[in-house]
Amino acid sequence: MKKKIVIANWKMNHDFYETTSFLRDLLKIFFDKKINYKKKVIIAPSFPFLQISNQILQGTSLNVAAQNVHQMENGPYTGEVSASMLRSIGIKQVILGHSERKKYFSETNDILLKKIHISLKYGLNIIFCVGETFFERKRKEQFIVVKNQLEETVFQCTSEKISNFIIAYEPIWAIGTGETATPEQVQKMHKYIRTLFLDKYGEKISKKIHILYGGSINDTNARNIFSKEDIDGGLVGNSSLQIEKFLKILLS
Ligand code: 13P
Repeated sequence: MKKKIVIANWKMNHDFYETTSFLRDLLKIFFDKKINYKKKVIIAPSFPFLQISNQILQGTSLNVAAQNVHQMENGPYTGEVSASMLRSIGIKQVILGHSERKKYFSETNDILLKKIHISLKYGLNIIFCVGETFFERKRKEQFIVVKNQLEETVFQCTSEKISNFIIAYEPIWAIGTGETATPEQVQKMHKYIRTLFLDKYGEKISKKIHILYGGSINDTNARNIFSKEDIDGGLVGNSSLQIEKFLKILLS
């Protein structure tokens, strides 16, 4: 069976002290108590703490991801961070397409495609987010919306590159709202996404690709969500900020 993946997207939370103490405490619990959490764990802290996070987690099974990358190689883009910079400090994964980046930083599918290309060029694996708005779901457009998002971005890549992707279905109406999609709603969408991968890349890739759910996952609903056939883990915001809650999610 595929090992489930749980990703902590800390967004713009946790300063240096909070980041380092969280990771040291997490490792202590992982390795002192020898609990088998049976999940692959990825932590996505803020840019300034990527390097120290990577150092703390080095030699363990836990990984670090960046929350964003700029689409250009380098140049006059004040405040931005390039894929080669991330690689130069040992980062191997990046989250792309998060709805908060689309909403607050005007990221379009065109920009995301450029970000995909530059990330792949520098050997970064990509956690790619898709999902519909509340009104798109109300109009029953969620499937076509997600299909279009994938077709204009991820599906522009050849099958050789697809093993570098994790897909995260994050319905926008469920992010940070406390309103979770039901496990059945998520399962239906994940099955649909897997079918899209089947049609485009064939059976082997469609079975292998991890499709995670994100949107108000917490320590009480995680077990139910993770029990569904096509849900290969979670991308967790709020509930990944407290170690006790995060550990409970990992045990779910
Ligand atoms: P919440 O878990 O806070 O809803 O955030 C989900 C998310 O956006 C993860 O990327």
